[in-house]
Amino acid sequence: MDLIPWTILLLCLFSAQLAHAQENTNYDESNVPNYTLPDPLQTVEGTAVESISEWKFQRRPEILHLFSENVYGNMQHHFDTISFTEISEESALNGAATARQVEIAISRDGQKLNLVLNLLIPNNVSSPAPVTLLINHRGPDNMDISREIKKEFWPAEYIVDRGYVAAVFDVEDLADDNKETYTEDLLEQLYPEELDKPDGMRTISAWAWGAMRAMDYFERAPDIDENRSIVIGHSRGGKTALWTGAQDQRWAITISNESGAGGAALSRRRFGETVQQINSSFPYWFTPNFEKYNNNESALPVDQHMLIACIAPRAVYVASAAEDQWADPRGEYLSLYHGATVFDEIFGIPIPLDEEMPEVNSPVHTSHVGYHIREGEHDLTRYDWEQFLNFADQYFGLE
Ligand code: GCU
Repeated sequence: MDLIPWTILLLCLFSAQLAHAQENTNYDESNVPNYTLPDPLQTVEGTAVESISEWKFQRRPEILHLFSENVYGNMQHHFDTISFTEISEESALNGAATARQVEIAISRDGQKLNLVLNLLIPNNVSSPAPVTLLINHRGPDNMDISREIKKEFWPAEYIVDRGYVAAVFDVEDLADDNKETYTEDLLEQLYPEELDKPDGMRTISAWAWGAMRAMDYFERAPDIDENRSIVIGHSRGGKTALWTGAQDQRWAITISNESGAGGAALSRRRFGETVQQINSSFPYWFTPNFEKYNNNESALPVDQHMLIACIAPRAVYVASAAEDQWADPRGEYLSLYHGATVFDEIFGIPIPLDEEMPEVNSPVHTSHVGYHIREGEHDLTRYDWEQFLNFADQYFGLE
């Protein structure tokens, strides 16, 4: 057979496969089922939550516990030792930055885990500088501090130029993004008991745990201002960023870029990727209990707007892309919209969002909440970073 028929045959096979993978996927707004979201401001027992202390000491911990038990697994925080070693430090970006690699070593019961943090620290700003941490699931090319390889996914020159530390780690230091080998790092080394529990940690929790260890370093580094810290992730990394920021109150701003199902998108909408689809493709991301909600979203005691709510009163930013229907942009926006009520009702911070989604390429930045939907496909782009840093400048009063 010559080249052309082969190409056509392969193309047909590929589209047949794609059609099969997505055949049950709803992309039609009129097919979104009627649903009722659990109320972030009502306890499981039915009591209305009205004060900051009821929110802080009762409802927020209750919501985080429900996410641990049913979605991401019960995060472990205990370990015996943690140490930080600066492996290398040199001038970079023609003197505009210092490139530093830090090895974070954590031990528990005689077992050890190493996590490497890559940093580009701006030199021409008043120190300590605000920091952005990217949770990188796209391998070494997206975190090169030598800058031989540059990608828009981590535009370090631009971040430094805006006066922020650009920090990044590879999720695979914590847990491989792989069904067969994900247990080999954090889980087998430090928390093996998690692997037998129905609500045990899996990769999203392991990756979030890594982001928290990066924050442990920021707290100790004299040239980094941990009080002006931003955790950001794209897609599976965005799901992880939300889970990190919801739990760990040391982060000033949490940013989810196109995080979709199990991230910012409301599960009950069943638009784009569903709970059942994500659990069958990526069962090792979530805790085993999450499978109970396959095609049974209304039984979930939470929905993703409650993850947003747990970030309040710290800032949160959700971003979508118009062609990324698999991630359900409208569901991502609605989650922000519904979650943001906690800012107003509990903390007295008005968040003037409209129930209607903002137009494409028209970012909405309120004092504590940001959103944009840009044109184009599923990716983390220079445009996204520009909006995030504009929002951060405004939030930190750096304009
Ligand atoms: C897949 C997956 C999504 C995920 C995305 C990504 O498309 O179904 O849930 O967000 O990969 O991480 O890029």
